[in-house]
Amino acid sequence: MTKTTASDTAQLIIDGKTHTLPIVRGTEGDAAIDISNLLRDTGYITLDTGYKNTGSCSSAITYLDGNKGILRYRGYPIEELADKCAFIEVAYLLLHNKLPNSRELEDFKVLLERFALLHEDMIHFFDHFPPNASPMSILSVMVNSLCNYYPEMGDDPLQDLNITAARLISKIRTIAAFSYKKSLGHPLVYPRADLSYCGNFLNMMFDKPVKPYTVRPEVVAALNKLLILHADHEQNCSTSTVRLVGSAGVNLYASISAGINALWGPLHGGANEAVIDMLELIYADDNNFEKYINKAKDKNDPFRLSGFGHRVYRTFDPRGTIIKKACDEILEVLNVSDPLLDIARQLEEIALRDEYFIERNLYPNVDFYSGIIYRAIGIPTNMFTVMFALGRLPGWIAQWKEQREDPGTRIGRPRQVYTGEPARKFVPLEERT
Ligand code: SDX
Repeated sequence: MTKTTASDTAQLIIDGKTHTLPIVRGTEGDAAIDISNLLRDTGYITLDTGYKNTGSCSSAITYLDGNKGILRYRGYPIEELADKCAFIEVAYLLLHNKLPNSRELEDFKVLLERFALLHEDMIHFFDHFPPNASPMSILSVMVNSLCNYYPEMGDDPLQDLNITAARLISKIRTIAAFSYKKSLGHPLVYPRADLSYCGNFLNMMFDKPVKPYTVRPEVVAALNKLLILHADHEQNCSTSTVRLVGSAGVNLYASISAGINALWGPLHGGANEAVIDMLELIYADDNNFEKYINKAKDKNDPFRLSGFGHRVYRTFDPRGTIIKKACDEILEVLNVSDPLLDIARQLEEIALRDEYFIERNLYPNVDFYSGIIYRAIGIPTNMFTVMFALGRLPGWIAQWKEQREDPGTRIGRPRQVYTGEPARKFVPLEERT
């Protein structure tokens, strides 16, 4: 159960009557007006399209300050975790609210290795997806189907949660790599006990019978960093989806599958693929930055700068800053030069000098540079959002677990303001015009 303190109150005057509403404050002084009894006490609901001003829950997992560009998982600054941890340490931290000691980390590794394989019957699923099937659709189908092969999410899902969490975190990696191999018509490469979480993923993706893949520590380090930076981000669209679906009492696999589908959207996790498409468009158009900046500013043009702007950050997304720096490191190590990185940098520079972006506090977000690193590693663009899902999975599970453990949880069921027809008399078919 997460802790908030009800300290002072807010007064709401409606129809001449004053209502007193409690104010709750979080650990960092973040404040909210508790409207849990507003409808009962006033007959009014609130309206907040897109939930820009509405908190859905209290949570002890991730803290972010959009004005200061602060992001912490369980109190640890993202900069430290990204620099000093392996992804599975951060996954453990999100799930258990502590960085694992050596014993705990070893036990977690044993579980991840135990669950790395996919049930052989599930491998036949891949035979029935068309070669050009979206890897995100495959991922959500396969994750949802895991509940049929691993039904431990029974009467007491929390009892098996550590097992189910390790199973999901391990298998999502295998599913992603297998879907890539299947799309190429290449033989599957199975997970190996002697490789790390990220090393195994890279080997399953890129090892070939004709040309064995060398797992390079620098590439493993870059992937670890990317997955850590994507691991959680409080109540974003996909996490809220996981919570909402989970609040109906459905199993974890189905809740995560719903989160995968929400993440797929180009306004959310799908933006990392859209950024590359946008940069390639500008590159093909002789780096005509002005044209695309003007399109992004034009209200009548649906074009937006992908990878720019954020619902919460009103300054640089701290994750984007770390990833931008990591781009240089990995491209140098791999001796790769990517013209799209230069275009991204120039686009950022031009946009951040433009009044339109300045007055709307639009800065590069987590998705703006991540695709440059995925490309350098050799991951295809249509798998970038899959990579986002691999990173976000521990956060989704931790948020689902926190909600399921909270006795105050109720099924999520928002209200509405009705703007349709008033009551009217039924018209039989023969009398209709
Ligand atoms: C993620 O929520 C999270 O935490 C998400 C995430 C996570 O880790 O889970 O951080 C991951 O989803 C990052 C965001 C990835 N999406 C994109 O990069 C898509 C491009 N960005 C935008 O579509 C937009 O910025 C959103 C969707 C991210 C946020 O949209 P909001 O908060 O609803 O803001 P808005 O659309 O109301 O924009 C406010 C103003 C508008 O102009 P005005 O009507 O005030 O004149 O800013 C403009 C918008 O037109 N604007 C942009 C823009 N983003 C906002 N104009 C041009 N290009 C953009 N990218």
